[in-house]
Amino acid sequence: MEKPRIALIGGGQIGTTIAQLVAQQGLGHVVLYDVVTGLPQGKALDLAEAAPVLGFDLQISGTNDMAGIAGADMVVVTAGIARKPGMDRDDLIGVNARIMAEVARGIRYHAPNAIVLVISNPLDAMVTLCQRLTGFHSRRVFGMAGVLDSARFASFIAWELGVSVRDIHAPVLGGHGDTMVPIVRFANVNGIPVMDLLLRKYAGDRQKAEDVMAALVTRTQNAGGEVVELLQTGSAFVSPAVSAVTMMEAVLKDQKRLLPTCALLNGEFGVRGYYVGVPCILGAGGVEQIVEFPLNEEEQQMFSNSVAAVRNLVDHLPVE
Ligand code: LAC
Repeated sequence: MEKPRIALIGGGQIGTTIAQLVAQQGLGHVVLYDVVTGLPQGKALDLAEAAPVLGFDLQISGTNDMAGIAGADMVVVTAGIARKPGMDRDDLIGVNARIMAEVARGIRYHAPNAIVLVISNPLDAMVTLCQRLTGFHSRRVFGMAGVLDSARFASFIAWELGVSVRDIHAPVLGGHGDTMVPIVRFANVNGIPVMDLLLRKYAGDRQKAEDVMAALVTRTQNAGGEVVELLQTGSAFVSPAVSAVTMMEAVLKDQKRLLPTCALLNGEFGVRGYYVGVPCILGAGGVEQIVEFPLNEEEQQMFSNSVAAVRNLVDHLPVE
């Protein structure tokens, strides 16, 4: 069977890491696009020359010309600048919106049939802009944040409980900002609620268990910034890249995985016309279903607060 063609827009740390993972997993041919002369070509050549050692038979190329993405089945956008210490994701909007406007027009023209996964920040606003400017159906344009945020939440829970991360499910919904919504009620270790395990660990001291959970939630909400503060020169890239590849694989292999996805809501969860993180089934059609479930009062309040933050940003997008 013909391998899919994957265009990666942005040759930075996340884009390059995705290229490597795609090649290693044999997911498809890769075209890496970046505006910097020689950068995508050099990175692509380096990766292509790893093929005999790793044993992948794929075409890997780099380009400074958006025409190079022609015929892509899937486009992944990481283009844009990353945060510096002290910055909020939202501070990136001016520069990144202009970049996204260029990119979206290029995708519309050169890859009109592609499914588009957006990773650039501020995520919810960048996906919105990409969908508006490509004019693609919202099923075909969505964003990566919840898989990463959930992975972070799961990591912190695992470290607290001293159990394997493999058994933890800990969904995070809402916008990809400090108002994101970890769904504590659904956090479980192979079906056993994390709150029950915390109560057990702290000998039934409910206040202590709640305080510990609150700290895990806060750390999750600030986890991107925690990495930025440590690196000083950029933001996280391995965990965002593996999260994106998980979503790409769900689409390219039509896996029907249910993953937290930044999707355009049309009345689901009481929201209409905004992109925000919710559970979705991802398959060959892109976002094949948005899976609604009843939020409790506290979750609803946090979710509304997060949607308000997204709305505030999207309603002031500097590019139309
Ligand atoms: C983060 C950036 C990629 O959360 O948004 O690390």
